[in-house]
Amino acid sequence: MNKIITKSYTQFNEEENFLSETLFHNANGYIGVRGSLEEGVKNGVDTMRGTYINGFYDIIPMKQAEMLCNFVDKKETMLNVADTMSISCIVDGELFDLNSGKVISHKRTLDMEKGITKRDIVWESSTGKQVEINVTRMTSFEMLSLFSIEYKVTALNFSGDIKFISTHNPDVTNYSNPKDPRLASESLKNLEVKDFYLDGKSSIAISETSVSKLRMCSLVHNSLYAEDNSLLKVEVSDIIGMQGVYTAGATVKKGGSTRLVKLSIFADSVRSKDLSGKVLGDLETILENGLDHYYKAQEKYMSDFWTNCEMEIDGDLDMNSAVSFNMYELLQSSAKDSFASIAAKGMSGEGYEGHYFWDTETFIMPFFTLTNPDLSKMLLRYRYSTLSKAKENARLLGHKNGALFPWRTITGRECSGYFVSGSAAYHINADIAYAFINYYITTSDLDFMREAGMEVLMETSRLWMDLGCYDSNGNFCLNVVTGPDEYTCMVNNNYYTNAAAKYNLNWAVKMHDILKEAGFAGEIDKKLSITEDELKSFKKAAGKMLLLYDSKLGINPQDDSFLNKPLWDLENTPKENFPLLLHYHPLHLYRYQVCKQADTVLSYFMFENEQPRDVMKRSFEYYEKITTHDSSLSTCVFSIVASRLGMKEKAYSYFGDSAKLDLMNTHNNTKHGIHTANMGGCYMAIVNGFAGLRVLEDGISLAPSLPDSWNGFRFKLVYKKKLIKVTIDKEKVTVELLEGSSQNIKIFSKEYTLTKGEKTTVKMED
Ligand code: BGC
Repeated sequence: MNKIITKSYTQFNEEENFLSETLFHNANGYIGVRGSLEEGVKNGVDTMRGTYINGFYDIIPMKQAEMLCNFVDKKETMLNVADTMSISCIVDGELFDLNSGKVISHKRTLDMEKGITKRDIVWESSTGKQVEINVTRMTSFEMLSLFSIEYKVTALNFSGDIKFISTHNPDVTNYSNPKDPRLASESLKNLEVKDFYLDGKSSIAISETSVSKLRMCSLVHNSLYAEDNSLLKVEVSDIIGMQGVYTAGATVKKGGSTRLVKLSIFADSVRSKDLSGKVLGDLETILENGLDHYYKAQEKYMSDFWTNCEMEIDGDLDMNSAVSFNMYELLQSSAKDSFASIAAKGMSGEGYEGHYFWDTETFIMPFFTLTNPDLSKMLLRYRYSTLSKAKENARLLGHKNGALFPWRTITGRECSGYFVSGSAAYHINADIAYAFINYYITTSDLDFMREAGMEVLMETSRLWMDLGCYDSNGNFCLNVVTGPDEYTCMVNNNYYTNAAAKYNLNWAVKMHDILKEAGFAGEIDKKLSITEDELKSFKKAAGKMLLLYDSKLGINPQDDSFLNKPLWDLENTPKENFPLLLHYHPLHLYRYQVCKQADTVLSYFMFENEQPRDVMKRSFEYYEKITTHDSSLSTCVFSIVASRLGMKEKAYSYFGDSAKLDLMNTHNNTKHGIHTANMGGCYMAIVNGFAGLRVLEDGISLAPSLPDSWNGFRFKLVYKKKLIKVTIDKEKVTVELLEGSSQNIKIFSKEYTLTKGEKTTVKMED
């Protein structure tokens, strides 16, 4: 039962409703539909009523107060594409609404086994007529273009008429909130309806974006069923203004019901040429198969998903459902083709405008690489397809060589207007390189490295060489960059960035050696104009990379000025002043030792071998005191590193903050969308943290510890096409090879060989 999440409501509450729109959204990586009420809300009530297509965008001006040289002056933004979720229900002459009549019960459900959401309401009209309303919504994983709503009404204590008005409205705008820098400040109307017509019983709207000139199409089709499943009449009025209006009604007996099935189908010109042909073709297939076919397919898809990435916590039901929720949301958010990626808020809302950040590669991709490497490959393919734009971006910033991936984007161009904590975050280059390397280490997919990975490693390395310089002591330095911590910007030798760049440079050389060994050097050198001298220069820079160390404190300073700044007085900062970014000018924040999120601490997870354990421990304790975790990308990292440093209780406490962030709305902004990076981080906190999984060049290893409140936990992972199951309880670790003939693994530093069908069991260590 831990894969079902429900919330019950007593009466309509604006804030709660806004939050539920996120928690109960439906998405399949192609379309995302907010869980807004079918019947809508009263005018003036805050709501983000949106439907989105991953990778579908328009270009809007980026206002810069002072337009300095090569500043970004436009950005891509995700659009709300249509409202096809609206359905009004009239119960014997009275309009159903949560603010009128009497709401006897209202429950919302996310069923992660079936891949659907539900609303179950018992409502009494002002004249005492009671109905039960059951609404099921799905965005299909089998037919990515399909969003369906099934709306069933049962007359509980009367016989009478149930009428539906179902609409198709392609004339929509985006949500905005000028008070929050994480949202668009102006409401957008960038989609113009070019054609809106009826085709038989369906309405079809074709819209075009104002600047990118992309087109998208939405089709709506309604069917009404009587209790015996016979079809009833649905009237489609001519398109009036910008609304396609369907009316249908049934007379039901006491205890009887009627059911409206609304199908919405979407297509876009990023992926298809003949948009109306595509939606009509999909509709034909869907009607032929019937909706039940898609429900079954959805359940099967979910069952395969949960089997592949099985993750169970024994002894903590709440945590178990929080973790399942996070994994489910990652599946909903991830593109299923290489035209798009995973937005910071997935497809659940407009926060961060549908942009892709380093969140995907650093926090989310590790989950897919270990459970569904093909999906990771697709996401990497998407990044690879943007490499030429990353080269253009590098030129804009003055680099003669290499590629610089943008801080936030949809198609690959930089969409960050505030370069200080945007474009200056050069570490994204190494984060993307790291994801390619991690994918290779986990899968041994050399073909993909030959096709794409090597080029990414080369171009990112070239950028480091162009950016960096040697100081008078012969150290290789990276100056004026912003590390992961956005409360400290434009610094020299950010520890994380330097360590990440070092890894990037070393791996460019190593991957070249591997490809050379496999006989591909000639081809690769020609394609990428690689010379021996260039590779030598990478090796030298990596070897001389400055990784700061402060011998007085025995820690790694975050950058070369960090420790000279005064400490921010966190203890006496009023609670209501968090997150600090909403209460203090950035310049003020930059002048203190205060961190928004894990920075140096993150490097201890990703580049663990750079420092001895005692340095990492002292640094962890130092940064812990000055980190606010105002970014959702933080507590998960502290949890992983605490686990690795043997701080069991801390690891669990940070993990708890991360696991429940969206379900409990602890950052108070889940209403604008989920935090996908944190969700991936929560997975890593279990697998890489508690289980101590390391996937390195020389093999895989486990060093588990079990949170005191758990009886145990288990998960599966795919390593070099071998499926491995790990079960940890208070006494022992059991590892089983489910697919593949044999595999070596280290458990608590000792090497074991797994053979299919046999379990390897090792005693837990303290
Ligand atoms: C974080 C970034 C992150 C972005 C999108 C910001 O608040 O500081 O690290 O990439 O959110 O999730």
